[in-house]
Amino acid sequence: MLEVKNRVAYAPTGKAHFTKDGDMTDQALCYYVARAKGGTGLIVVEVCLPVAKYARPVRRILGCWDDSQLGGLKDLADAVHMAGARVVVQETLGFGSQAMFPVEGEVVAPSEVPSAIRKGTAPRNLQYMEGVTGVTPRPLKREEIEEMEEAFVAGALRLQKAGFDGIELHGCHGYLIAEFLSPYSNHRQDEYGGSFDGRMRLALNLLRKTREKVGPDFVIGFRMSGDEHLEGGYTLEDGQRIARELERAGVDYIHLSSGRYEAWNRMLPDEEGTMLEEAKAIKQAVQIPVICPNIHDPLTGERALREGMTDMISLSRGLIADPAWANKAREGRISEIKRCILCNTCLKVLFGGFTIRCAVNREVGWERFNPEYFPGRR
Ligand SMILES: Cc1cc2nc3c(=O)[nH]c(=O)nc-3n(C[C@H](O)[C@H](O)[C@H](O)COP(=O)(O)O)c2cc1C
Repeated sequence: MLEVKNRVAYAPTGKAHFTKDGDMTDQALCYYVARAKGGTGLIVVEVCLPVAKYARPVRRILGCWDDSQLGGLKDLADAVHMAGARVVVQETLGFGSQAMFPVEGEVVAPSEVPSAIRKGTAPRNLQYMEGVTGVTPRPLKREEIEEMEEAFVAGALRLQKAGFDGIELHGCHGYLIAEFLSPYSNHRQDEYGGSFDGRMRLALNLLRKTREKVGPDFVIGFRMSGDEHLEGGYTLEDGQRIARELERAGVDYIHLSSGRYEAWNRMLPDEEGTMLEEAKAIKQAVQIPVICPNIHDPLTGERALREGMTDMISLSRGLIADPAWANKAREGRISEIKRCILCNTCLKVLFGGFTIRCAVNREVGWERFNPEYFPGRR
């Protein structure tokens, strides 16, 4: 069991702060130290790849595919711990068919279903992406899936060795693990598709094989969409069934999300609190803790926790805008919180191929130059 000092988590947020080879940087360290020092109880480090050979965004993403990455990973685990927070890493099996963004390497997925951003589905200020369709992916062979499972376990072991408290499987947003879960994108007829059990196989294999190696104390969470909100995708009822299976397989917590790139405005809502009903439904299905994202106002979070809709709240854009959100909320300095205006400048800049910026926090991207955020400083 992992004790966390409060119920505020930093939702995984890709920022392109790493090197092209997936290595740590001072910017990534200082960025996370700022959020840990700001009172966040649990940091979920953004997507981290254990396999480098398939489609990888040209934006700079964290890697755990090689022992040479261990030193940098340990620096991050230690830096966040010294700043007073717990830290898990979101491990992914890659982006699957989400190749409408510039990528290097081959695009693979369960089946030949390209991703698409349809009209009327883009979040605020990202409408220019509507109509974009990705490359048609090559369906993975069975041996390749097995190879990926082994690579995932090896990645998890590196993250454990580096000193992280756990991992969170990235099973949402239509990335590879999520694509296997969904009848929309998984049309396979082998044992990795064809039925609910078949679509669950990859996720359950990853959980079982990882648990066997990391032991009972290393936290394993799972991030899933409650409802894909997509014709042909899975519903909230299916989401409850998936959550129950994950719990049975030994997952320690569920980090919720909603939709996928085909229902993008569910993933990145233009207002806050839109996932709370899904969180409530998933919570009714399982006993393990549920984390609900998309909270911006501390009072919304407080109410959701008190009403038992979720066990923990998480923030992505809110913590980009103000790294000290949790401390200010705890101390009742709510009016001092630099509020995210949901303008999605962070994503727009990221999709443009750059590291993120924020319209209300000029410090974002420059944390490495602020001595307050240097790792190890009190
Ligand atoms: C710049 C940016 C990068 C993101 N990267 C990830 C990621 O790596 N993994 C993930 O599961 N979600 C990612 N998300 C989604 C967030 O974790 C979160 O679920 C979503 O932004 C809604 O919550 P919010 O209203 O608190 O921002 C990202 C969001 C943003 C804005």
